[in-house]
Amino acid sequence: MFTEKYKLEKFEDIIGQKDALYAILKWFDSWKPGDKALLLHGPTGVGKTSIIEALALEKSIDFIEMNASNYRSAKQIRETIGQSVAQQSLFKRGKIFMIDEIDSLSGSADRGGISEMIKLIRATGHPIVFTANKPFQSKLRNLRKYCKLVELRKLAISDIEKQLKKIVKKEKMKIERDALRELAKLAGGDLRAAMNDLESLSHKKKITADDIQLLGKREKAITVYEALSKIFKADTVLEARRVIGTVDKPPDELFWWIESNVMREYSKAEELAAAFDALSIADVFRQRIRNTHNWRFLAYMIDFMAGGVAVARRKKYFKHVHYQYPTLIATLGRTKRMRKEQHEHLLGLAKQLHCSTRKVRTEFLPYLKLF
Ligand SMILES: Nc1ncnc2c1ncn2[C@@H]1O[C@H](COP(=O)(O)OP(=O)(O)OP(=O)(O)O)[C@@H](O)[C@H]1O
Ligand SMILES: [Mg+2]
Repeated sequence: MFTEKYKLEKFEDIIGQKDALYAILKWFDSWKPGDKALLLHGPTGVGKTSIIEALALEKSIDFIEMNASNYRSAKQIRETIGQSVAQQSLFKRGKIFMIDEIDSLSGSADRGGISEMIKLIRATGHPIVFTANKPFQSKLRNLRKYCKLVELRKLAISDIEKQLKKIVKKEKMKIERDALRELAKLAGGDLRAAMNDLESLSHKKKITADDIQLLGKREKAITVYEALSKIFKADTVLEARRVIGTVDKPPDELFWWIESNVMREYSKAEELAAAFDALSIADVFRQRIRNTHNWRFLAYMIDFMAGGVAVARRKKYFKHVHYQYPTLIATLGRTKRMRKEQHEHLLGLAKQLHCSTRKVRTEFLPYLKLF
C-alpha cells in the first residue's frame, strides 16, 4: 500500500504541521515524571500516529503503542499497560507510550477506562501520548485536565499535491496536471485518503481529470432513495453497478430495497418479468455467499441486482416515484427480539435433541406446535 510504502519516517518527511511539531518537541524534551501527558488531536490522516512513531525513531527510544479500542475494562488496562509504564526500559534508553484513538475506548468501560488512564499519567515514569479525532467529547473531560493538547490540522491542498507528485514520479505513473490537483482537492486535507485514491488509479496508463471526477462521485455517499432512482434509470450495467458502491448500505440490504421497489418504477409486464428474473439470479448468488462465505460471488450478485434490473427496462420512466422501505427489512426489524428469543429456545432444544437448530425448526417444531 502507498500509505505504508511512503509512510513518513523521519521529521524531515513531515509535511506541514510545523507549529504542532514544535509544541510536541517542547513537551517531550522537557518532560519529567509528574508532568502532563500529550493529547495529540486532529482529523483523520494528518499524521497523528506516524508523527509520534517518527518521534520515537528520531530520539532512539523504545516505542510502545496500544490502541484504546482494544481495552474493555480498567482492569485490563492496569494489567497490560500498568506494568510496563512503571518499568525501566531496556538499557535505560527511555521509552514513550502511545495510546492511539483514546476517543474509541470501548463503550461500557468508558468511565473506569478513563480514570485508569489518569492513574497511569500520574504514576508513569515515561511520557505518554494519546491521540484522538474528537478530543472535546465530555467523556474525555477529566483526561484533558491531565494532558497538554496539541492540534494537527488538515493538510493544505498544495501540500497534498506535492506529496502525490513525489509518489507519481517514484511509481512512474502518468497523470494530467489538472487531475493531480483535483485528486489533492478531493482528499479534503486527509493525506491517507489522497494516497489511497491515487493507488486505486495506479493501474491506469494515464490518469485523467475524468477519472478523478468519477472517483469524486463514488466518494460522496448518497441516500438509498437516490440510489434506487439512479439504478432504475441507468442506461448500462456498468452505470447501475457503480451506484451500489456509493450508498452506505450493504449490498445485501440494497437487494431488498431494489426488490420491493422495482414494481413501483416499472409498469410493463415484460420489464417486470425480466427484472425479477435478474433478481432471482442475484438471489442465488446472495445465498451462495451466505452458505459458502465466498465473497467472489458478490460481484455477480451486484451485476444482476443492479445491472440486470436496469437493463430489463426498455425506456426510462420520468414519473416521480415514492420508494418505500422494504417490507421484509421492516418485518425483520419489528420481530428481532422475538426471533432472538425463539433462537434461544431452539438452541436449548437442539442441545437436548442432539441436532441442529435448523432441524429442530423444520422437523420437530411443527409437531410440537400440533401437540
Ligand atoms: N503531515 C504528514 N506528512 C507526511 N505524511 C503524512 C502526514 N500526515 C499523514 N501522513 C501519511 O498519511 C498516512 C496516514 O497517517 P497517520 O496514520 O499518521 O494518520 P492519523 O492522523 O493517525 O489518522 P487517524 O486519525 O485515521 O488515525 C501515513 O502514510 C502517513 O505517513
Ligand atoms: Mg492514527
